[in-house]
Amino acid sequence: MCGIIGYVGKKNSVPFIIDGLKKLEYRGYDSAGISILQEGKLVTVRAVGKVAELEKAALLANPKGQCGIGHTRWATHGKPCEENSHPHTDCTGEIVVVHNGIIENFLTLREKLSSLGHRFKSETDTEVIAHLIEENLKTACGATPKERLINAVRKTNGEISGAYAYGVLWAQVPGFLLGVKNQSPMVVGLGKDENFLSSDVPAFLKHTNKVLFLEDGEMAELTETGVKLLDKNGAEKPLKPVKINWDQKTAEKGGYEHFMLKEIYDQPQAIEDTLRTAQTDFGKLLNLNTRELRALQQVHIIACGTAYHAGLVGKYYIENFAGIPVTVDLASEYKYRCVPRTAGTLAIAVSQSGETADTIGAIRKAKELGFKTLAICNVLASTLTRVCDATFYTHCGPEISVASTKAFTSQLTSLYALALFLGKAKGNISEASFNSLYKELLTLSKFMADAVKIEYDVRHITKRVYKAPHFLFLGRNVNFPIALEGALKLKEVSYRSAEGFAAGEIKHGPISIIEKGTPTIVLMPADSLFEKMLSACQECRARGAFVIAVTTQEGARLAKDSVDKTIILPYAGELLQPVLNVVALQ
Ligand code: BG6
Repeated sequence: MCGIIGYVGKKNSVPFIIDGLKKLEYRGYDSAGISILQEGKLVTVRAVGKVAELEKAALLANPKGQCGIGHTRWATHGKPCEENSHPHTDCTGEIVVVHNGIIENFLTLREKLSSLGHRFKSETDTEVIAHLIEENLKTACGATPKERLINAVRKTNGEISGAYAYGVLWAQVPGFLLGVKNQSPMVVGLGKDENFLSSDVPAFLKHTNKVLFLEDGEMAELTETGVKLLDKNGAEKPLKPVKINWDQKTAEKGGYEHFMLKEIYDQPQAIEDTLRTAQTDFGKLLNLNTRELRALQQVHIIACGTAYHAGLVGKYYIENFAGIPVTVDLASEYKYRCVPRTAGTLAIAVSQSGETADTIGAIRKAKELGFKTLAICNVLASTLTRVCDATFYTHCGPEISVASTKAFTSQLTSLYALALFLGKAKGNISEASFNSLYKELLTLSKFMADAVKIEYDVRHITKRVYKAPHFLFLGRNVNFPIALEGALKLKEVSYRSAEGFAAGEIKHGPISIIEKGTPTIVLMPADSLFEKMLSACQECRARGAFVIAVTTQEGARLAKDSVDKTIILPYAGELLQPVLNVVALQ
């Protein structure tokens, strides 16, 4: 994932681009760069590291110009270094490209272009785009350089394959930016006498909240005075901008040390906002009538990373309340496995961004198989929501932290609500049970508001264990996916080794990795599986583990002789407790 930004307007573009890149750092931060058109010549400044490094370099070089592009990188092809940083140029140095995504056929194209005399300066897949545009410009039709550029870029799009969104600037067409989108996000901000191109809204939200979400295959032409949208055939499309109601403060850190912490604290609000719209009849949302809903035979949940763990919890919810069999697949696996074409299948894609390529690919496959498709997604008008038959939006606001927190608990909340609606529609739970369960669900945000207060207890305990090289997380039943999520979070954020296990499985091998002091975090609220979890604690302790119980008041009392430390959470009920337990692990 990378972040791109472009500016064209009346003012010096550099501060807009640098500021936009800072807002996009959550998309990648191993290197960054800008290209500014200054008096007909492109000035490029790049730096390894965070945008702050680029800012220092840009201050020294001091480029000035009313049109420019920028990029913040998370390396996928070629190590993080200045040569591999974007923007990338063609042989003439007059065309610059910033790109987010992966050009799958870049090696073939690179060979072909090299044989035609193009000289490559980086190891990236992106650089082929710049050279291909240069090559295609040689034969491109058009009365003006601008028309020729558009045609060359269109031809280029026909030759590259993969997921990409890129911005192009050509020194021969001053004051003109082109944005292209295919399976990676690209948005346009419509301002007054200035327009923006970006991977995401926070990059320009300070300047405009009028946003155009590009569809796959579309191209946007930006000048200071306007924006033109072209469909994949090159025909002009009417602009249908959306007004984004997130203010800049919502999109920024809100006074917390870092975004992840801010987003952990956002959770009570995110759950409340998500439930506000969940009242909508899910049947209507799915465009299915009661008869069709009753005919549902199975549910496939598809997702990646943290969203996959939400899907694993969702399986327990749907099977419990609706009695419908559920399979949960990693999207990257679903795409390649043989999925039987079974009538009455509902495929649910869970994704915060709605732009994860594997999730989109997998749901497309489900559609091809004739399944009804539903997205549980956080980003308005994202690709996934346009592919699926219906969308249920989580309402978390922008997620800036790469490590997902509030999106996860909102996804769990949505899946719980969905399970209740399906259960009612299928006749698996009565109207009265539905009402009382739904009422319980509506209290979740209050429990969450108490749960996030454990920060200081957790900080205290982590001081005791943070140097450990390896961590274990154990859970059972609906808390098993939470153990997986705890391990993922720890790996993602601290770069330490961590594994999550179903507590009943540790005796079948994993216990042998426990040594003296191995921090073992056990999810053990005082519920129907408490006794089983208690014996797992004793087994681990016998091997020398340092056992930290994530539990409830009653659980802490009962477990006091079997564990080393306790983190005490409020108790929201057996099936809702995972939503609180994960807060301790975040
Ligand atoms: C990963 C993120 O890259 O993508 C995870 O680190 C996230 O936090 C996963 O869960 C899937 O993203 P999304 O947007 O499809 O939920």
